[in-house]
Amino acid sequence: MLDKIKALQEEIKSAVVSNLEEVDELRIRYISKKGSINKLFADFKNVPAEQKKEVGKAINDLKDFALDKINSLKESFESNGNSDIGSDLTKPGEPMKLGTRHPLAIVKNEIISIFGRLGFTVAEGPEIEDDWHVFSALNFPPEHPARDMQDTFFIEKDPDVLLRTHTSSVQIRVMERTQPPIRAIFPGRVFRNEAISARSHCIFHQIEGLYVDENVSFADLKQTLLYFAKELFGEDTQIRLRPSYFPFTEPSAEMDVSCSICGGEGCNVCKYTGWLEILGCGMVDPNVLEACSIDSKKYTGFAFGMGIERITMLKYGIKDIRHFFENDVRFLKQFESAT
Ligand code: DAH
Repeated sequence: MLDKIKALQEEIKSAVVSNLEEVDELRIRYISKKGSINKLFADFKNVPAEQKKEVGKAINDLKDFALDKINSLKESFESNGNSDIGSDLTKPGEPMKLGTRHPLAIVKNEIISIFGRLGFTVAEGPEIEDDWHVFSALNFPPEHPARDMQDTFFIEKDPDVLLRTHTSSVQIRVMERTQPPIRAIFPGRVFRNEAISARSHCIFHQIEGLYVDENVSFADLKQTLLYFAKELFGEDTQIRLRPSYFPFTEPSAEMDVSCSICGGEGCNVCKYTGWLEILGCGMVDPNVLEACSIDSKKYTGFAFGMGIERITMLKYGIKDIRHFFENDVRFLKQFESAT
């Protein structure tokens, strides 16, 4: 009896199938009511009492072995779309499903392309930064709240190692190594110690812009941003600049675009104001130029920074920022195919 069990085990082990029907045939042959393993259970009553324990265990093990093999074969054929490659090697391959680009990547690429048409190049910087590039060189006073653990992720005991809270740090890295004229944008991931909700996340993406040359004026900033807004949201888009404050720009402003959903009439997305805030901007503070050894008497510049999530949410009417990071394919496949 034990030899019979062993032989059956070998047979099952070496069984080869090439589709789901054949997997089912295996199941019928070995573990159905009339299958060979059940026959062993029927013969079990003839086994001498002293061998019952050993033989009983061997039959149960064999049944588990057969079940495991059949289930795993079934799973692999199901996940392979029941492909039948085994029986006909000349069949054409299974078509490969194309993925879709992530909505944040689509919008980032679009922004890069708009500024590219104005002569802006692209540069990147590190996500793990130091105090100088994220704060000090950007004219943040020593007691500024952004330097606090409340807002910034410090990743070591050493407070000089932190995750950048904005891409403005890349301005500094570029100005430290290049003399004007500089005209570039800096896309990247940033980190803030914020509670995760529908409107904010502790990880998000920004695009920073910088233009430094002789005679760069606030009018240049305004015209550049107007062109950008019209390209991104449509020809009828209006902009307005509201005075604001950032340590690294003087004067500073926040830019609103006319609401693309209601055309400025007022709706619940723009909270009935007709305007949507999309970025911060201003003229680079002379202290920032000097911190990077750029002569602030000779050169002036403008800078701006925007959140890619916010713009993507406005463009596609996405109501919850968390969708971007959950990577649910049902959400992702609604966007343009990758090419
Ligand atoms: N760094 C700012 C932030 O994270 C955004 C910003 C505002 C960037 C004004 C700039 C600027 O370059 O001029 O909120």
